[in-house]
Amino acid sequence: MRILLLTHSFNSLSQRLWLELQACGHEVSVELDIADSVAEEAVALWQPDVIVAPFLKRAIPASIWSRYVCLIVHPGIVGDRGPSSLDWAIQEGASEWGVTVLQANAEMDGGDIWAAQTFPMHAAKKSSIYRGEVADAAVRGVLEALVHYPEYVSGSWKPTPLHEFKAPVLGIERPSIKQAQRAIDWQHDDTATVLRKLNAADGCPGVKDVLFGQPCHLFDAHAAMEYRGTAGEVIGRSGDAVLRATTDGAVWIGHVRRIEHDPGFKLPAAVAFAAEAAALPELSFATGEIRYEEHGSAGFLHFDFYNGAMSTDQCLRLRQAYADACKRPTRVLVLMGGGDFWSNGIHLNRIEAADSPADESMRNIEAMDDLALEILSTTDRFTVAVMQGNAGAGGCFLALATDQVWARQSAVLNPHYKNMGNLYGSEYWTYLLPARVGRERAQAIMQNRLPVSAAGAVKEGLIDACFDDDAVAFRARAKRMALELATVPDYGSRLAEKCTRRACDEAKKPLAEYRAAELVEMRRNFYGFDPSYHYARHHFVYKIAHAFTPRHLALHRELASPAGDPPAAAAATQRYPALTGGS
Ligand code: COA
Repeated sequence: MRILLLTHSFNSLSQRLWLELQACGHEVSVELDIADSVAEEAVALWQPDVIVAPFLKRAIPASIWSRYVCLIVHPGIVGDRGPSSLDWAIQEGASEWGVTVLQANAEMDGGDIWAAQTFPMHAAKKSSIYRGEVADAAVRGVLEALVHYPEYVSGSWKPTPLHEFKAPVLGIERPSIKQAQRAIDWQHDDTATVLRKLNAADGCPGVKDVLFGQPCHLFDAHAAMEYRGTAGEVIGRSGDAVLRATTDGAVWIGHVRRIEHDPGFKLPAAVAFAAEAAALPELSFATGEIRYEEHGSAGFLHFDFYNGAMSTDQCLRLRQAYADACKRPTRVLVLMGGGDFWSNGIHLNRIEAADSPADESMRNIEAMDDLALEILSTTDRFTVAVMQGNAGAGGCFLALATDQVWARQSAVLNPHYKNMGNLYGSEYWTYLLPARVGRERAQAIMQNRLPVSAAGAVKEGLIDACFDDDAVAFRARAKRMALELATVPDYGSRLAEKCTRRACDEAKKPLAEYRAAELVEMRRNFYGFDPSYHYARHHFVYKIAHAFTPRHLALHRELASPAGDPPAAAAATQRYPALTGGS
């Protein structure tokens, strides 16, 4: 089928669907929902069988839904309507939630139902449930809906109107959730309530509150029942997080967005309030960002950095933790990343906030490179990257520095840098990528700037294995596989082989040469006359919506450009190639 993905942004859910639909053999083009006229133009060019809308902030115009089947992916159970579905579900402690695929009509979220999927809820951040359970259910729901499409066209199947839908529990229409409804009452709310409210707002928009007398939005909360204090008071810090007492314990607040800096951006709490946090007692955060555990002869290093972004000091701390783990008598060291992301590379928000973003970019990339080098130089054991969630840009290449990469099938990889203002990239990618996929394919991956599914990555040798497990089963499998690797009968000869290969590679061209050449390009990105990287980073951090669909996603624009005048959006891409990373 010919499908148009109409979406506010090419976010994780849209990328997942884009990959899954293509894997099913559909022809998929993407249009970012910018204006009705641009969407109409895209539809006219692509002439899709079906329009799939995974993430919209506005209604689809009647000019489109009255002529084409438009399937809206709504992150709520059947009957649920409104823009804050997941927020309400988490805040009110729903035990089960779902995704409904419904056909757009004049009534927002009121169209006929093509597919409905449910999943059990668990205590987690909204952003995490959105990238995990919602994305999985959306894929199942859209694929189910598309199976019905030929029968719908032939008239042998009809979607179910909402009032005819039979389900044990039906949702209701809910208004957009207001900050007043999210507000934490520190004098009365217990830890579970505080966490629910913060989880329901995580990612965006956060809970509006006051810290150190300053208005801000709070994000990234973790319970700390082992601490007590006067409810509402900030009683300590650990690394970049601050600890705030509740009525029956405390919560760690990892990130904040200060309001006086509006339209500011998220920063670690102890960075945004540096002076205030410095005066707090340093406490221990048992489930903090970096954690090491050992099972038999395998070590597991977890690094659950918020949003997968890795600042200079996080890289330094992780490198130290890696070096410490290497002192342990294990035979396999597994780099687990975090539950939602393995890594998304250098920390663009911290860079944006620095006095000199160019200097901080340089420091951050050097710290990433040092970490990658430490992994690449490990000769006394095997290393494995276990991708429980997505990995992007430098984070993807950092994983390739290990001996083996295993991923959950739902993980999406973005093994390229150019979307960030034509960034050249480092992390030894010029050594690691061609070694895995060959020189030609490496060049194509870098130029195409497209997401790759875990299964696609295995197929082309980018990673070693992927498994269609849920999160818990995948971690258990990774543990089992690591222990198997540690005890393979030919462990010694395999390790010797790895060392010989590395030594041969080093003799051909030292790693230092790869790094120096990459950093020449990166220095040009950071300090050169072309400010594209700085513009792109600024747009990314401030979440400035795209003004047009990047050309490499909008296949329908290709149909328009060979003859005649390019349509407006295509022309815009040509006018501003630097900001899209286009050439
Ligand atoms: N630095 C800081 N924040 C980052 C980040 C980074 N490197 N990568 C992702 N984030 C943040 C996003 O701003 C977003 O923040 P939010 O919680 O305030 O919404 C959150 O992580 C999730 O990112 P999002 O873009 O919504 O996730 P996605 O799964 O839809 O897309 C990527 C994944 C990797 C395509 C996208 O995040 C990206 O392009 N990241 C930048 C990668 C990069 O260029 N790194 C620098 C070069 S090494």
